[in-house]
Amino acid sequence: MGKEIQQVFQRKFDKVNSIVDKYERKVSNLIAILQEIQAEYRYLPEEVLTYVATALGIPPATVYGVATFYTQFSMKPKGKYIIKVCDGTACHVRHSEKLRYLVREKLGLDDSKDTTDDLGFTLETVSCIGACGLAPVVTVNDDEVYGQMTPEALAIVLDELIAKESAEQQTKEQQEKSDQRPARNGQAGESDDGKGCQGC
Ligand code: FES
Repeated sequence: MGKEIQQVFQRKFDKVNSIVDKYERKVSNLIAILQEIQAEYRYLPEEVLTYVATALGIPPATVYGVATFYTQFSMKPKGKYIIKVCDGTACHVRHSEKLRYLVREKLGLDDSKDTTDDLGFTLETVSCIGACGLAPVVTVNDDEVYGQMTPEALAIVLDELIAKESAEQQTKEQQEKSDQRPARNGQAGESDDGKGCQGC
């Protein structure tokens, strides 16, 4: 295993350790532990579930059983933006299907793929979310609720999210590049006057 991959794993398990410690490594807190891990990674990675089982001293099958029983947990990576299109009766009769097609088309998703490759977006179809008076309804990350949506209005929302995500990715990449760039000033033998370090 390369050094970089090892470091990523180490960081991942450091975070998991701090979560299980926070819940005093108690089996009775397993659901809360899994909720917090999912909030961190946006899904429950298999190797993390095994790690949690070891940390709590219980069989991995017990942890997997809980993770797969509750619909709130996902074993598949999810996107940063989770777009839920309601397809309950009230939304369905108001053409929610057209909204779903639009999201798929814009994000390049299909029946076999509900999350974009860059983990930017996930499309979920849900039954009634309790806002039938606003049908058809779309939500983004459960925070923003868009009622009486039309394909045109949803296209604008999606375009804004795509632009925002793209800008954030670019900023992140630039930040990573600048973090990897070796610091020049102040390094021995590389002082600006070309005479090398005089103080050591
Ligand atoms: S059917 Fe969509 S909110 Fe109720």
